Amino acid sequence: RKPVTVASLLRMKERGEKIACLTAYDFSFAVALDRAGVDVILVGDSLGMVMQGRETTLPVTMENMIYHARCVARAHTAALLMVDMPFMSHYTVAEALHNAGRLMKEGGARMVKLEGTGEQAEIVNQLTVAGIPVCAHLGLRPQAVHKLGGYRVQGREEAAARAMLEDARVLEQAGADMLLLECVPAGLVAEITAATRVPVIGIGAGGECDGQILVLQDMLGLTPGRIPRFSRNFMPEGGSIPGALEAYVAAVRGRTFPAAEHTF
Ligand code: KIV
Ligand code: NA
Repeated sequence: RKPVTVASLLRMKERGEKIACLTAYDFSFAVALDRAGVDVILVGDSLGMVMQGRETTLPVTMENMIYHARCVARAHTAALLMVDMPFMSHYTVAEALHNAGRLMKEGGARMVKLEGTGEQAEIVNQLTVAGIPVCAHLGLRPQAVHKLGGYRVQGREEAAARAMLEDARVLEQAGADMLLLECVPAGLVAEITAATRVPVIGIGAGGECDGQILVLQDMLGLTPGRIPRFSRNFMPEGGSIPGALEAYVAAVRGRTFPAAEHTF
């Protein structure tokens, strides 16, 4: 399999081929995801919950991110390795450059993801100048959970929807190579996807964006308690871990996931 790059993801969007992404936090799962044909592996700061048992992503540190990124990077996957910038690591240009540089140099990242709005355009621009691919995470931003007042769908009201579309445009203009929309109504996601040239990946964002991402433990049925409404357990259908990963990739490519019941 040829390595997935920013350029090949762009071509997938242009051709209308859906991009299948999943999170992973260690070597063994990174190998399994790669064998299943996953395009992008995210070392998400969701590791705070699924690796560390925390309530939110806020306590996750740069050292945590680098440790897990290195574990995944040792799999030398064809899948593109994207790594999250943790809470409070990217709010000044100097800190964002320093910390994104560490994720690339020490963690082996090929792209960094940061939660933000149009306010982060200058930071995205400076990372772009430095040659660091960036994914901008819009909509529900879990690092802002205390400001947003909980984990809830974003962009429902007209003014918020217009602001998110504008943020997407501004961030693309600033150099973002990919956008990620979390818990955003499907109609707004379709608008943003049509208005941008770079791939738009969704989670709880309907089927009209360019690709999908889920938290690995949710789609393997390992999450204690209820999984989010937008997620789906692929284990019953896949029958094994490799089978579930392949079923997920096939469902994303074949547009059977997400279905209406996963969409806002
Ligand atoms: O940290 C994470 O796993 C994420 C995905 C849910 C998009 O940011
Ligand atoms: Na994250």
